[in-house]
Amino acid sequence: MSARCAGLEAQLRAAPRRWLVTGAAGFIGSHLVEALLRLDQNVVGLDNFTTGHRRNLDEVQAAVSAAQWARMHFIEGDIRVPEHCHAACVGVTRVLHQAALGSVPRSLADPVATNAVNVDGFLNMLVAARDAKVERFVYAASSSTYGDHPALPKVEARIGRPLSPYAVTKVVNELYADVFARSYGLQTIGLRYFNVFGPRQDPIGAYAAVIPKWIAAMLAGEPVHINGDGSTSRDFCFVANAVQANLLAACVTDPGAVNQIYNVALGDRTTLKELQEHLCELLAPHLRQRGVSAPAMPVFGAFRSGDVLHSQADITKAATLLGYAPTHRVREGLEQAMGWYVARATAHE
Ligand SMILES: NC(=O)c1ccc[n+]([C@@H]2O[C@H](COP(=O)([O-])OP(=O)(O)OC[C@H]3O[C@@H](n4cnc5c(N)ncnc54)[C@H](O)[C@@H]3O)[C@@H](O)[C@H]2O)c1
Repeated sequence: MSARCAGLEAQLRAAPRRWLVTGAAGFIGSHLVEALLRLDQNVVGLDNFTTGHRRNLDEVQAAVSAAQWARMHFIEGDIRVPEHCHAACVGVTRVLHQAALGSVPRSLADPVATNAVNVDGFLNMLVAARDAKVERFVYAASSSTYGDHPALPKVEARIGRPLSPYAVTKVVNELYADVFARSYGLQTIGLRYFNVFGPRQDPIGAYAAVIPKWIAAMLAGEPVHINGDGSTSRDFCFVANAVQANLLAACVTDPGAVNQIYNVALGDRTTLKELQEHLCELLAPHLRQRGVSAPAMPVFGAFRSGDVLHSQADITKAATLLGYAPTHRVREGLEQAMGWYVARATAHE
């Protein structure tokens, strides 16, 4: 834990706030809810279960004390409906906005649906936060905003053209947040997540992210499908690091750190081939228990439309202005996530 984060946690416990987490039943949102409840905060969760699940909230409930869970108020609602956004913001001082339709391929298949949630819904949330006099609006931005800019590592100020409808929506989010800061004085901070992974990231469905999808395939004794030759690389970021960045962004007091965008990642690069090798090693003991001597060989296919070849963050800005210091490297994160995925796969057998 960073020194700044430790101090912050003590402060929050001493003077609990009322937070809104949108996308609370989703992967990252549920971890934010859990972290806030563990810090004895009052939390409003908003979600319409498009891609999130009640079982994620059940897991949070099981992980916190009864007294902490009593501080949770869940609203089943839709950010495309302005009244739902307004109702969720009542009495809230900090918003952590995660609700969105993720996935580049989903946005290529249905750009209108992605836009409705990610742009119209985002704007509804900004208006509701402004009207409710929310003190700070922290939102999930995305590394997809770097688009076709070739520079590595990615520095916040240098972005290229978006490569997918999803990326367009995330660029627009940043533009709106900036305008709301300048026009209405709403404090905003955008966190450009880079390939976040961890427990509760959905392994099922056509739009599942690579790590849960591969773990599920390997546990089922199936080969993983690698888009391209395996040299594609990403800055995979364990979810605990993203939670830390949210808490720091929500509470930072330096005015120069507010109304900014930050990369949230490790600052490392892992190729898909390396990722597959890590997963093979970590899953080997579990596979042996199932009588499988080795995972199936990966199958290589075409590069995926809308994907960039390499992605790696420069996290200097978040480290300097927010005090962000990732606690988990990729391997440590995979080790922690693995237990959850194995348990989940076993529960479904
Ligand atoms: N996971 C990553 O690697 C990653 C990377 C970059 C950015 N992001 C962003 O982080 C945020 C959280 O992503 P995640 O990985 O936890 O995805 P997720 O799909 O698990 O969570 C999104 C949540 O939003 C909810 N939601 C969707 N539409 C809604 C609507 N209209 N009204 C209310 N709730 C709605 C879903 O039901 C889900 O629970 C998203 O904004 C995503 O774009 C994620």
